[in-house]
Amino acid sequence: MTPLEPDKIDTLFINCHLATMTGNALSIIEKAALAVTGKTISWIGRQKDLPDHLRTSCQKLIDCRNGWILPGFVDCHTHLVWGGSRSNEFEMRLSGATYEEISKKGGGIFSTVQSTRNASKDELFTLASKRVAALLSQGITTLEIKSGYGLKLETELKMLKVIGQLDKTFPLHIEATFLGAHALPQEFADDSDGYIDLVTKTMLPAVKDQAIATAVDVFCERIAFNLSQTRKVLQTATDLGLKVKLHAEQLSDSNGAAMAAQFSALSCDHLEYLSLSGAKKMAEHNVTAVLLPGAFYFLKETKKPPVQILKDLKIPIAVSTDLNPGSSPVHSMTLILNMACMLFDLTCEQALLGATINGAKALGLELSKGSIEKGKDADLVVWDIDTPADLCYLAGLTPIEMIMIGGKIQHNTLHK
Ligand code: NIG
Ligand code: FE
Repeated sequence: MTPLEPDKIDTLFINCHLATMTGNALSIIEKAALAVTGKTISWIGRQKDLPDHLRTSCQKLIDCRNGWILPGFVDCHTHLVWGGSRSNEFEMRLSGATYEEISKKGGGIFSTVQSTRNASKDELFTLASKRVAALLSQGITTLEIKSGYGLKLETELKMLKVIGQLDKTFPLHIEATFLGAHALPQEFADDSDGYIDLVTKTMLPAVKDQAIATAVDVFCERIAFNLSQTRKVLQTATDLGLKVKLHAEQLSDSNGAAMAAQFSALSCDHLEYLSLSGAKKMAEHNVTAVLLPGAFYFLKETKKPPVQILKDLKIPIAVSTDLNPGSSPVHSMTLILNMACMLFDLTCEQALLGATINGAKALGLELSKGSIEKGKDADLVVWDIDTPADLCYLAGLTPIEMIMIGGKIQHNTLHK
């Protein structure tokens, strides 16, 4: 499997099975061993092929007792920095109000914007820390977090700084995405083009100058921004050398996906109303489709994304929690895996690819994250399961025995 042997090994996992998530498949190696040197995976293969001297020279030997090792999950779409709560809206929706109705009356994203503007940076950090800790305990080792509840320069930057602080504080790798064009703030109620000018002329240059986000996202939707406004933001971001992605075709077909594809977007996300022509453009430009079954479920959406078309066109499919206070307050990747199978007809293998290597693709991190390969980051989770499908089947259970991020053990119940 790995012809060149490392000179030294820091951690050696034995008595394990691997789902390496390579070659667009689980790519299982049973009765395996896996070695880590420094931050990276340095040897993988069948345990019987492990050279004796590697076993004897390792610093730390971990007996996985027949557990399964998968790459840590990559949660590629979250909005987990927010102030306030929207549980009242959840109850309104249970009584029949729709997400769009609530948003049109100034609730929804706008209510979170108010609370997020009012919260201090420290308050936001404390609230978001609990959510990051919950995701880490679910085996998520790479995470994307968007801004988008500030909708003015100062609060957008405050959110992005909180995301940066989370990245420094927690062992997970965190990518920040600027989503200034998430909703039209009330002070621009009659001037959406004016707000887009603020985003493109003031906010984006500041985000670039401060190197505070790697990607730029837009909510392209009838309750948010139209196609030509979306194009302006994506064009400015591209001119500034930032990567782009898009909330596209969530509530209606706005032709956002086709346009984002022309900008070689990393991903188009949601996609319930994606058309065949939009999907073809995504395939042509190698754009990852990010499916968010939590939002579909919480909004009681009935239109499924065209999953069979995505599969037929061989578009990489990622799945993610979309953790946010309105449409997807879901803190569990294993629950999302189950929903991806039950609601969107993904196989267990496709769902797991979606939460690992395809999640990494949606962030442009596929060379270092999302699969178990020599030279990749040692972001690994040891699971007490009989088969990888158990992670989709045992809905909501999280039988984690060890989490390693960048070669460092973060959680370990194997050697109590
Ligand atoms: O991904 N679609 C827009 N943005 C979020 C929802 C944000 C909110 O309701 O607060 C989403 O579903
Ligand atoms: Fe979202």
